[in-house]
Amino acid sequence: MPTGTELGWLVMLSCLLAVGGGVVLLAWAIAGLAGRATRGNDATALPSLQHRYARGEIGREEYQRGRAELLRSRSDPPSSSLAGSTVSRPHRLEVWAAGLSLAAGLIHLVAAPEHLREWWGYGYFFLAAAIGQVLYAQLLFRGDRRGPAFYAAGLLGTLGIIALYVATRTVGIPVFGPAAGEVEPIGALDLPSKLVELALVVVLAILLQRSRSAGVRASEAQSTPSGPSDERRVDRDQRSYRLSRRALLLGLAGGAVGLLGFLAIAERWLPRRSPARAAEPGEGLLAASPRARAANGTMEIQLTAEEVAWELAPGKRIKALSYNGQVPGPELRVREGERLRVVFTNRLSVPTTIHWHGVDVPNPMDGVPDLTQPAVQPGDTFVYEFDARPAGTRWYHTHFASTQQLDRGLYAPLIIEPAEPEPNPPDREYTLVLSAWVTGQGSLLPPSDGMMGGMMGGMMGPRSSDPGYDTLAVNGKAFPATQPLLVREGDRVRLRLINASGARTHLIFLEGHRLRVTHTDGNPLQQPVTVDAVPIAPAERYDVEFTADRPGVWSLHDLLPGQTEAGLRVQVVYDGHEGQTEAPLRRDAAGLALWSYAAGRGADTLPVPAGSTRDYRLTLSGGMMGSDVWTINGRAYPDTDPLPVRRGDRVRLRLFNMSMESHPMHLHGHSFRLNAIGVRRLAAPLVKDVVDVQPMEAAELEFVADNPGNWLFHCHKPMHMEGGMVALVRYESG
Ligand code: C2O
Ligand code: CU
Repeated sequence: MPTGTELGWLVMLSCLLAVGGGVVLLAWAIAGLAGRATRGNDATALPSLQHRYARGEIGREEYQRGRAELLRSRSDPPSSSLAGSTVSRPHRLEVWAAGLSLAAGLIHLVAAPEHLREWWGYGYFFLAAAIGQVLYAQLLFRGDRRGPAFYAAGLLGTLGIIALYVATRTVGIPVFGPAAGEVEPIGALDLPSKLVELALVVVLAILLQRSRSAGVRASEAQSTPSGPSDERRVDRDQRSYRLSRRALLLGLAGGAVGLLGFLAIAERWLPRRSPARAAEPGEGLLAASPRARAANGTMEIQLTAEEVAWELAPGKRIKALSYNGQVPGPELRVREGERLRVVFTNRLSVPTTIHWHGVDVPNPMDGVPDLTQPAVQPGDTFVYEFDARPAGTRWYHTHFASTQQLDRGLYAPLIIEPAEPEPNPPDREYTLVLSAWVTGQGSLLPPSDGMMGGMMGGMMGPRSSDPGYDTLAVNGKAFPATQPLLVREGDRVRLRLINASGARTHLIFLEGHRLRVTHTDGNPLQQPVTVDAVPIAPAERYDVEFTADRPGVWSLHDLLPGQTEAGLRVQVVYDGHEGQTEAPLRRDAAGLALWSYAAGRGADTLPVPAGSTRDYRLTLSGGMMGSDVWTINGRAYPDTDPLPVRRGDRVRLRLFNMSMESHPMHLHGHSFRLNAIGVRRLAAPLVKDVVDVQPMEAAELEFVADNPGNWLFHCHKPMHMEGGMVALVRYESG
């Protein structure tokens, strides 16, 4: 039984053979046409012979000899001609075939810019297919019956394209481009274009069949001596020659118009490079924004949630949930203050919503089902619209039945670039979305939380927050399928780390380099903090930088037990050092300087409170004796006490974690200052929207109530959230 990859190779090779065979046959058919065009030239030789005779340049004898020779040569079956080549109006079936081929070509032309955005190779393949199909249509429409080879060429080529399509949607093509080996989702244009191509195959098959029997008749006819119709044939040959030159010009003009149109569309749809992003080697790592600018300057984006077959690593296939067929979903990139309009369609079989994590959206856009909006039902569309702010590494994800949806792929980066371009942007930037998966293929990971504190590790037994993860991924791929990060010596490289794992902490380490932490949950530090490794709790983000000053190949990976092996590893490859082997990887964090909340000084970007100060104490507990109930002050949501606030208030939350698992607590609609963690008071509070509170640890945060509505404050681990560790921040009027 061949594996998916082997099958992919097989299909691809047969497709290449078919397409290649088609091209050769087409070349042959066109050579036949050229042959006739030359005969057309012979035909013009006759009038010129007549002219020369009329002008007295040649004698009567010479004229008659030349004329007889010319006519004789024309009645011989020409060697390069194809059986059955005669000139006539296009047959009705040929008109049909031409129309179908034209339609297929136009669909490919329309789809080309989209694919060009993924990779130049895909884009040009589509362009080539489009041009081929349009040219073929044009040749068909000219109605010169080209005989079996011509139709066979079209038939093989079309079959090849269909087979390639089926292969990319089922087993994936193992080579070429950034999506090598991936199974592509089915797009909107697929059905019409495949129907058109199938119809074309049928019509071409009939034409092929007919031309073969016509060929037999024609060669029989040609063996009988030709009569007085010679002159008429000359006429027709001449007409065909002129027709073909005009057709060629028309074809060229059409091609030029098509190419210009293509470039215009590509220019409009291709993501523009922003100054903060030296993207070239990183392009294709995460799919770029499916952006389009509406007339009023709003960025409009179409997002669709749909199930997709996803290959995490060679042979590790799962059914994932995706935005626009990708895991993670497309990275949205907007400027701070820019209006974002997301037309979201749910093509899942279950309801869902989108939450804009870390963005200060108006309450009705927050994506909390039954609180800020009804869940988006299967088949329904909901439009999210808000001004993108504040700047920083944000993300978006499902907020419906998170235990079933979050760890299956419904998340993606939302990068809000500062309104004023950064004064000193990095040379290169990569977004890395970390995720955890339950595939049932691989060994279960040991717990990853409660270890930062140093004492809880391992001995607490199975975690109720852990659904049984066995695979970890970076940008939807587990090592060795992860896409390497290319750098050049001397580059300053920014990594935007986003932990989308429902319930795993990652300890990110880059072999051979130190990391400078510059942003916490997207918000700047006063100065970067240089460390060896960065722990990142669920839903947290860190922007880190490193200087590419040690040429070679190095791995960025996860130092927590088993996590590198589970796939959380991506290579950093210096330009010119591709293929170099790596030194053995570090296995643990012993002796390393780790990032911690107390290590950084946050830049205070939050508003000043105008009202009174409110204090709430929240004790986090639950999970006792393997229970899956998680509480705040002893109650599980929706029975937890709401936290009333008024606009302008300074709201202080003092948290204490009485449970044996850590809780990454997240506040919707506002960023907060982290005033204290454990026993440490932070001199310059970090600005964050998630704080990971370790077992038996305290934390204090405060925010300014400046965004009215009903907002969740909850543990971001799906099982804890659904187990009740949620409180409601409720604005009171007045
Ligand atoms: Cu990132 Cu309530 O979620
Ligand atoms: Cu929790």
